[in-house]
Amino acid sequence: MNSLAIIGTQWGDEGKGKITNYLAKDADFVVRYQGGNNAGHSIFVNNKKFSLHLLPSGIFYKNVVNVLANGVVIDLFGLVDELNELKANNFKDFKLLISERAHVVFPYHKKIDGLFEELKAKDKIGTTKQGIGPAYTDKSSRIGIRIIDLFDDKYLAKRLKENILIKNNLLKSFKIEDQIDFDSLYQKILVIRKIIKPFVKDTAKIIYDALNQDKKVLFEGAQGVLLCLDHGTYPFVTSSSPTASSIPLNVGIPCNYINEVLGIVKAYTTRVGRGVFLTEITDQISEKIRIKGKEFGTTTGRARRIGWFDATLIRYAKRINGLTKISVTLLDVLSGFEELKIAINYKINGKIIDGIPLLEEDLLKTEVEYLILKGWKEDISKIKTFAELPENAKKYLRAIEKYGEVKIAQFSVGPKAEQTIDLIKIW
Ligand code: IMP
Ligand code: MG
Repeated sequence: MNSLAIIGTQWGDEGKGKITNYLAKDADFVVRYQGGNNAGHSIFVNNKKFSLHLLPSGIFYKNVVNVLANGVVIDLFGLVDELNELKANNFKDFKLLISERAHVVFPYHKKIDGLFEELKAKDKIGTTKQGIGPAYTDKSSRIGIRIIDLFDDKYLAKRLKENILIKNNLLKSFKIEDQIDFDSLYQKILVIRKIIKPFVKDTAKIIYDALNQDKKVLFEGAQGVLLCLDHGTYPFVTSSSPTASSIPLNVGIPCNYINEVLGIVKAYTTRVGRGVFLTEITDQISEKIRIKGKEFGTTTGRARRIGWFDATLIRYAKRINGLTKISVTLLDVLSGFEELKIAINYKINGKIIDGIPLLEEDLLKTEVEYLILKGWKEDISKIKTFAELPENAKKYLRAIEKYGEVKIAQFSVGPKAEQTIDLIKIW
């Protein structure tokens, strides 16, 4: 098989979009398989920054077929906005396919996402308020509406009415006056569905056939392993699984069709939203990294929390996903620091533990063991080879590899494609 999974190994925002776009030039297909427009992938094309939320990061190549698979939840209005943005920038020849089985995110999902966050008050998750959780909830509750259902007028009207009744009752029970209106939403859907109709296909079959014909298929993860509903830092997670093991189910291909798993690893750690973050930096160093790394959410604009590189998380990501290689991103952001820390172990009562503790009481007892490395001053954003790196930057990368226990195939020193240095051929 000629498949490659691109997986976020931390809490998202590792630079998956940049790397996917870079590797997509050799791909036949780029497939988004989970999440929705909670994701934010920043990509530089022709010196312009694009923020993709739903569209796969291969969309800028004419020859690549971009797929939104069944595991994705699709905000129709958000999708059409992104398509319009592409067209406005003269990208008109893209290829896009949308799974008929993907579920739709409706405006009422966003409303409920916001409401639940408000109700949780200080315990809120810090979601992107894109309606992702409520849309997946409806899917699991078997009241969701799939892309294909949009094209069956009678069924769509019936299902939408049922859903709106449930949502309006929920809103009423929280004394929210503003009700959802069936007619206006239904009319808007009748218009927007025409735009997406040409893209709707049985994508599972198309990708299965493509892999059997030895086509190159790249699976683009959104978010990161630690935001996985099952294996992340629950409940501060997203509502899908960004892991490699979720690809077969979320695309509709056999589980032995994934052979390379590239973990994307930011050279430090960030997190948006609430939840455990054991290597978080709270002094002015975090602000310096935030500004240099432009660490503000692509979807929400929120300032990201900043922390030291955590090798224990990479070992965890390797175990959960079967990472075969990693790509280290944003190394350039770390120029100009006296010293840099790398977390190498978590310990409770002096004993090394594996993974992140699940209970608050254990988290409070967890100590982080750090390796302290000397920093480097030089700007590295223009280097082209590993050999050109300052000695301390080389040592930093070697430590990531040693303590992360996985080979570095590539590292990057800036947002542009040409600022990517390949060490091992990825596919
Ligand atoms: P939701 O996915 O909007 O429900 O948000 C749940 C959690 O996942 C929140 O902490 C979000 O900040 C986080 N999250 C969701 N999508 C992304 C992403 O693409 N990058 C980083 N964090 C994300
Ligand atoms: Mg992002």
